[in-house]
Amino acid sequence: MASQRSNRALRLALRQATAPRVQQRTFVSAVNAASRPTLQPAQKAAASAFVQQARGAKTVDFAGDKEKVFERADWPREKLLEYFKNDTLALIGYGSQGHGQGLNLRDNGLNVIIGVRKDGTSWKEAQQDGWVPGTNLFDIDEAIGKGTIIMNLLSDAAQSETWPHIKPMLTKGKTLYFSHGFSPVFKDQTKVEVPKDIDVILVAPKGSGRTVRTLFREGRGINSSIAVFQDVTGKAEEKAIALGVAVGSGYMYKTTFEKEVYSDLYGERGCLMGGIHGMFLAQYEVLRERGHSPSEAFNETVEEATQSLYPLIGQNGMDYMYAACSTTARRGAIDWSKKFKDTLKPVFEELYDSVKTGKETQRTMEYAGRKDYREAFEKEMEEIRNMEIWRAGKAVRSLRPENA
Ligand SMILES: NC(=O)c1ccc[n+]([C@@H]2O[C@H](COP(=O)([O-])OP(=O)(O)OC[C@H]3O[C@@H](n4cnc5c(N)ncnc54)[C@H](OP(=O)(O)O)[C@@H]3O)[C@@H](O)[C@H]2O)c1
Repeated sequence: MASQRSNRALRLALRQATAPRVQQRTFVSAVNAASRPTLQPAQKAAASAFVQQARGAKTVDFAGDKEKVFERADWPREKLLEYFKNDTLALIGYGSQGHGQGLNLRDNGLNVIIGVRKDGTSWKEAQQDGWVPGTNLFDIDEAIGKGTIIMNLLSDAAQSETWPHIKPMLTKGKTLYFSHGFSPVFKDQTKVEVPKDIDVILVAPKGSGRTVRTLFREGRGINSSIAVFQDVTGKAEEKAIALGVAVGSGYMYKTTFEKEVYSDLYGERGCLMGGIHGMFLAQYEVLRERGHSPSEAFNETVEEATQSLYPLIGQNGMDYMYAACSTTARRGAIDWSKKFKDTLKPVFEELYDSVKTGKETQRTMEYAGRKDYREAFEKEMEEIRNMEIWRAGKAVRSLRPENA
């Protein structure tokens, strides 16, 4: 859940990201270019087979598992406009996702209105983005009243808090949309028991709302999960796919509300954020305790990872990254990966259980429900900012050519 302060920081970052860039040749990029491995013929064939198969075909072979993938190409703009010609999309909440999805819907020409607390931070931010009070910006109740498709993009904690008030307004014929399975799946905690006579669907972009917007503006699309919780009209899945395209998705992967929320909470606590931070800290601390300087410890832990090696994994996979390294690095890394996997797997098992049993959502709800939530969060960020590793990182980043 992004705070308003981080929303503002993200807006600034987005402006910087979309500004024209001068290609910089850094030490790291020069090393990357020099050591870039060429793709083996089998890798090339696999890559092109995937693309050919994905374009036009709906079933894609993911490592032997055939899965349905929906794509934007099947929903040109005219078809979207026709499909939603009688709908008013009421997007409730204007945080990271509200901003990205809302602006994309508007640029796609759909009839979208925003509903947020009057004169709150989101209200002001929506106005800055060109939403006009009384025309396409309303308070939450008024927007829900006008909407046929209610897109609940309040923070997960706020979805629970506001539910007793919102639920009676979700009358027959409307559709309820989420971008996370959190609220209905953990209904024992959130109390979000959906009305029985409406379609309930999900489009969960696999990335920040800022990325949803940036990729859309670049003419690309984010990957999203789609799911149906309740299908009253028989059209729920089709509606989810169409909405997925309308909010800026490129490819959409079919899942369930349960699987989406379990994998999402698990992933962000694991490799995406929590686990990776823990690994960084452990490796850094040992290097420092064994007499290495902060800059050396940081470069060997974070800088080389994020600036050189992880992007290679992202581009072409783990084998490609190994192939880009020295024989010495490759040998040791392959040997030690097994030990790390075996050691960490029980932690991941514990984490998955903690997600599935609702322990993680319970903690999130309690945390977000605290009156001093924003202050407590800022205090934790201050502690992280002041850790030696991240102070060293700030100094290392200042020496990058683009920052020097
Ligand atoms: N952020 C992501 O990267 C991401 C990615 C995929 C899916 N999602 C999902 O998308 C949904 C929205 O997430 P988000 O990150 O965009 O949300 P967020 O930034 O946490 O959303 C905050 C919004 O909720 C409103 N709000 C908070 N408390 C409220 C209350 N008590 N009453 C009324 N409004 C309240 C805020 O309005 P005020 O400004 O008036 O406080 C603001 O508009 C969530 O279900 C989330 O799990 C998020």
